[in-house]
Amino acid sequence: MSSVASAPTVRPRSRSQAKLWFFIVFFAATAFVTYMKNAQIFQPDSPIARHFAPGMMFLIPHAIFAGLALAMGAFQFSNRLRARYLGVHRALGYAYVVCVAIGAPMGIPLAMRTATPSLVAASVVQSFGWMLCTGIALYCIRTGNVRQHRRWMIRGYPFATVFTVARLIISLPAVRNMGFTGIEIVVWSAIALAAFLPSVVLEWPSAVRAPAAAKANA
Ligand code: HEM
Repeated sequence: MSSVASAPTVRPRSRSQAKLWFFIVFFAATAFVTYMKNAQIFQPDSPIARHFAPGMMFLIPHAIFAGLALAMGAFQFSNRLRARYLGVHRALGYAYVVCVAIGAPMGIPLAMRTATPSLVAASVVQSFGWMLCTGIALYCIRTGNVRQHRRWMIRGYPFATVFTVARLIISLPAVRNMGFTGIEIVVWSAIALAAFLPSVVLEWPSAVRAPAAAKANA
């Protein structure tokens, strides 16, 4: 009797703790890859400073607004924050949309000045995917469709996580030895995963439930 009564409270808490740990590890990884790549960016003669010099006017707003969006997006997935402080969730949500709208497209002119044509195309796709899903999520909440709002937020955020995932994989020696080809393979693969994995995660429960329900009705 008591185990039945406690089950509903235990499961959500362990899920939210898992989410918390995921974001702690993810942001530690983000700080790590950012530091490893850019530690010498303030030394004008360093290779990384010279690499970014032609795109600096885009890099600064891009890094600030995309970075803020990445951080704010994580808080938007907190069920506790949403339940207890809806006003904060709403304000952060609008700030997130503004940061995505500025930070994401800034990646395109930045890529045009620092990267290969294939990486420019990748930036267009990544930027478009992030803005489109965020725009649809905004439309859904403005029209009162909370369930779809949540689902489109889940579809949009992974485009931002490509920043960390791609840099983690690119830092592997086997990939680094391939030069720009290695970077292109990793970035395109990470964007493709960001585009379809959320749908797998979102649809998997109903894909499993449907045959079970059909069996029960047979
Ligand atoms: C639509 C999504 C995004 C696109 C299209 C994009 C595109 C780019 C491109 C093309 C570069 C230059 C890379 C190079 O030449 O080495 C860059 C650098 C950078 N981006 Fe993004 N980015 C996106 C998301 C993000 C996010 C979510 C963050 C948040 C942390 C971020 C932060 C930075 C930073 C700090 C740099 C400079 C340092 C570095 O490359 O490590 N970007 N981005």
